Amino acid sequence: MKKEFSLGIIGHPISHSLSPVMHKAAAEHTGIKLRYEPYDVPHRELDRFMGKLGQSGIGGLNVTVPHKVSVMEYMDELSDEAGAMGAINTIICKDGRLTGDNTDGYGFITSITHNGGEDMANKKVFVYGAGGAARAVCRAVAQAGAGGLVIANRTETKAGEIAARLGNYDTKVEVIGLDSNKLVDSVRSADIIINTTSIGMAGVAEKRPPGTESISDGQLVMDIVYSPLETPLLKLAKAKGARTLDGLWMLIHQGARSFKLWTGLEFPVDIVREKLLSGLKKN
Ligand code: ATR
Repeated sequence: MKKEFSLGIIGHPISHSLSPVMHKAAAEHTGIKLRYEPYDVPHRELDRFMGKLGQSGIGGLNVTVPHKVSVMEYMDELSDEAGAMGAINTIICKDGRLTGDNTDGYGFITSITHNGGEDMANKKVFVYGAGGAARAVCRAVAQAGAGGLVIANRTETKAGEIAARLGNYDTKVEVIGLDSNKLVDSVRSADIIINTTSIGMAGVAEKRPPGTESISDGQLVMDIVYSPLETPLLKLAKAKGARTLDGLWMLIHQGARSFKLWTGLEFPVDIVREKLLSGLKKN
């Protein structure tokens, strides 16, 4: 069995990423030798970086903002998931060939079912945002058989583009703006509410998505922001008696799937979570 791996993550900026700590913690536990490097690649350098990747000795990469879509054109192969989503978060480099995959949807749905204890079938789901993360989340919601999905975004047309890709599923999809007069009622009647926007992230002026005052007990509220770990949205949801899921879960589960694709090994989810939590507490 192979015991040494050279992996990494490509994005811009990249210094904030928890992926290096996460994968190194997993490697330590599983006993493999791992080099996992953050590669800060601005857009103008992407072509040169990707052109050399196949021969670089790197076995795989995670891909993060802003390259999830632009790296697609460099792939020799795409998984069904990456092809359908139009975005990549994991590259596997083997024998000079690059395969693009996407584990974000898996990370999201595993968080909801495994950690949130919620089954998506026939549920009403409300998603804030229509960026790259929302693309994966909304597809996973429809794939898992949700009854209804409301996508609410500041730029409504972007939510419409996501909805247009979900036509093959039975889920009834509705698109609204964040200023819609339907917002409060849609949040109130949802079973599961997910924030995929940057609202609530440290340094972002907006602290909580609009309409969230109507959250109540019986609902599951998930934020994909993990810095801070308890966002103002999650704090409010807890105060209202709702169940909550923090943003580390999706990060960890998508990473677990990528780790398995690269190494063939199981990822020690609970140990990695403890490691990340202790790191966040120190900051
Ligand atoms: P990611 O890949 O993490 O999803 P992204 O593609 O840049 O990142 O998407 C960011 C999302 O957060 C978008 O839905 C964005 O709304 P717009 O499509 O209107 O830009 C949303 N977002 C970011 N800052 C926001 C803010 N201050 N208020 C409302 N929505 C915001």
